[in-house]
Amino acid sequence: MPHERSVFACRGCGYESARWLGRCPGCGEWNTLVAVSAGATAAATGVVAAFPIAEIPEVEGQRIGTGIAEFDRVLGGGMVPGTLILLGGDPGVGKSTLLLQVGGNLGRTRTVLYVTGEESAPQLRSRAERLDALAPHLLVAAESNTSHIQSLCERHKPDLVIVDSVQTMRHPDCPLSPGSPVQIREVTGHLLTLAKTHALAIVLVGHVTKAGLLAGPRLLEHTVDAVLLFEGERFSPFRLLRALKNRFGSTQELGVFQMEGAGLCEVPNPSALFLAERALGSSGSVVTVTLEGSRPLLCEVQALLASPAYGTPRRTAAGIDGARLALLLAVLERRAGLRCGQLDAYVKVSGGVRLEEPAADLACGLALASAFAERAVPAEVVACGEIGLGGEVRGVPRLEERLAEAARLGFRRALVPYSGTPRAGADMSVVRVRTLAEALNAVLGPAGGRIRESDRPPASGAPG
Ligand code: TYD
Ligand code: MG
Repeated sequence: MPHERSVFACRGCGYESARWLGRCPGCGEWNTLVAVSAGATAAATGVVAAFPIAEIPEVEGQRIGTGIAEFDRVLGGGMVPGTLILLGGDPGVGKSTLLLQVGGNLGRTRTVLYVTGEESAPQLRSRAERLDALAPHLLVAAESNTSHIQSLCERHKPDLVIVDSVQTMRHPDCPLSPGSPVQIREVTGHLLTLAKTHALAIVLVGHVTKAGLLAGPRLLEHTVDAVLLFEGERFSPFRLLRALKNRFGSTQELGVFQMEGAGLCEVPNPSALFLAERALGSSGSVVTVTLEGSRPLLCEVQALLASPAYGTPRRTAAGIDGARLALLLAVLERRAGLRCGQLDAYVKVSGGVRLEEPAADLACGLALASAFAERAVPAEVVACGEIGLGGEVRGVPRLEERLAEAARLGFRRALVPYSGTPRAGADMSVVRVRTLAEALNAVLGPAGGRIRESDRPPASGAPG
């Protein structure tokens, strides 16, 4: 595209500058300078423009598909030109691998610039060989100066720029070391301007540190257009991609990949995979259907209760929030009569999935009760429902879709909230329950909801 002369104006106070600055000298705010074409600034001309909403160009037609369906879906259907996307994740989770595959795919037909500040260009090449990503229009630059990136963009006019990683880049005007919060902000501000002025899609990699989400890049959430998080447990091959923020799509979508010898493979049917290693017939295991965006996903919730080694019982939850586990234990104790408050409680969700939806409550509650009773929930049962503090089972959205997916994977009985009257297929029997106690009766037998401490088999090996 032709490059008309730009000036930069502050969104806050209108201060104008011939070059981009991270901090506005006028008002002192960071990242408020945006590029505007010379002569069109409000301050220079006094003309402020507004357009009828229907005449503003649509983004849908401009989206660039990467050819990796799981990635495109999380983005909302591909990348929108003129946007800056932050891809966060633990070191080693596979961010560079994913983006190199994206670059390799897109680089067959469009120009992609991969800027690496971490690996050398030969290292990247040898990895690309393994990933089958030696595409003709994939350009690689070992570079860490954002001004040089800008020059490269002006020279090669790529459609997509991958910057790996924000922690290794520096803005030429910022004297601080790469990775420091101010430097990270400056770099991101510069790349944002670059994306907007050249109508580029830029994906910026950011490492998450042990301290929490994106030390540094967390600051950037407001600046960038989308924040994607790439997650996975160290010893599991599954990798989950989700959007924490997306100005051009939903934040509910989940992309599932599997790390293999030849890079990341898409997992179009994750439910079957998440249930593949299920221990049938063991207590404390219940399957639920969670809705991650447009796709229902079946996952197994496992629970285990044990006598505490020390006075205070431990609560350990992987895949659900710890506070939610404590709440469910309290409801089980007070509303369903299970004396489980003094026991250590562990809950784990298969496949490294995080169940944030309240609809998973019923399965978690049932798994805990099944672990407590040491009685297995029948394998053909699937459960969906939110649990209230009164022990009531509350409605969940899009129940029919969930049950259809469960039926497809061979489940024959569904425990659902009483308010839900889904049309289920002939081979799925729907059990509507009003309370958690009713649900326990339905799947753990008549005593299921009324197990007392005296009914439990004596715990072996418990001290005291
Ligand atoms: P990488 O993409 O370098 O992680 P990040 O950029 O997020 O730090 O991924 C590195 C890990 O992925 C490394 O431990 C090896 C593994 N891997 C595979 O298992 N198969 C592959 O084909 C590739 C390229 C990497
Ligand atoms: Mg990397």
